[in-house]
Amino acid sequence: MYIDGKEYRALWLENNIVKCIDQRKLPYSFEIFTAKTTDDVAFVIKHMVVRGAPAIGAVAVYGMALGKKNVENAAEMLQATRPTAHDLFYAIQYMKKEIDKGSDAFEAASRYVDDIVDRCKRIGEHGNQLINDGMRVLTHCNAGALATVDYGTALSPLRIAHRNNKKLFVYADETRPRLQGLLTAWELRQEGIAHAVIADNAAGYFMKNGDIDLVIVGADRIAKNGDTANKIGTYEKAVLAKENNISFYVAAPKSTFDLSIKNGTEIIIEERGREELSEINGKTVMPAWTLVKNPAFDVTPAKYITGYITENGIIKKP
Ligand code: MRU
Repeated sequence: MYIDGKEYRALWLENNIVKCIDQRKLPYSFEIFTAKTTDDVAFVIKHMVVRGAPAIGAVAVYGMALGKKNVENAAEMLQATRPTAHDLFYAIQYMKKEIDKGSDAFEAASRYVDDIVDRCKRIGEHGNQLINDGMRVLTHCNAGALATVDYGTALSPLRIAHRNNKKLFVYADETRPRLQGLLTAWELRQEGIAHAVIADNAAGYFMKNGDIDLVIVGADRIAKNGDTANKIGTYEKAVLAKENNISFYVAAPKSTFDLSIKNGTEIIIEERGREELSEINGKTVMPAWTLVKNPAFDVTPAKYITGYITENGIIKKP
């Protein structure tokens, strides 16, 4: 991705030290976070310095490389950070195998990261076929370069379409409570794609008014039958899309598909802290007696999903 004209990835390795764009600070300030140990990488994932399924997998491979002297310990520490994104577990398994067979851990990790970037680019090329000139596309959460190292999953087709001179307008759900929609807006602005941020609960209004032609979202884990876990609120958007006859696509690479589980009921949904809802910019906005529930993801049943945009093409069923 280009940031103020300079090419960046969401994270990279520099002299065996991990550098990542601190997503907690965006879009207000652009800061680089340095992770020198597996512990640091676990912090990065848990506290969402880096977020988004493929990017979590990418930073985890570096976390494994940093912890290569005690692989089991590193795997355990990283696995305990966030439960839902399949990429994290896929990445840890990949590194265990590579270290086991004697590969150079940092080289193997960098191969994984380059591969994920390539897969996301291919998602963009396939997804571009779904996008016609003048389309208005809704997306939820951030499934852009920040969430995937580069290109994005849901944003990759939009990036490629725009680079192919197709005119687009993107509706970016704000995505309460962590406001990942602002990260999407920040990326779209860098790319020069016209867009607006809308409140999550405004999506139905725009769909019903005929303002949205297509929905593309990312994914955190896709079960064998196609049920898809993604950022909380995705399910509602899928139901609304079906009601309004709008195609609803999920974009994801192989690392997000979990073919070991039959359906979405087996997906563990992360519950995050109350402060994500009860505070805004560190200021309490809810009385202490308010019970807060904060699931970070929901599962969209496959019947609401028109298709899956993958690095190998667009498929109807995983
Ligand atoms: O909690 P987050 O910000 O890590 O959740 C991210 C999402 O749900 C994304 O939409 C998903 O990972 C797809 S990222 C390409």
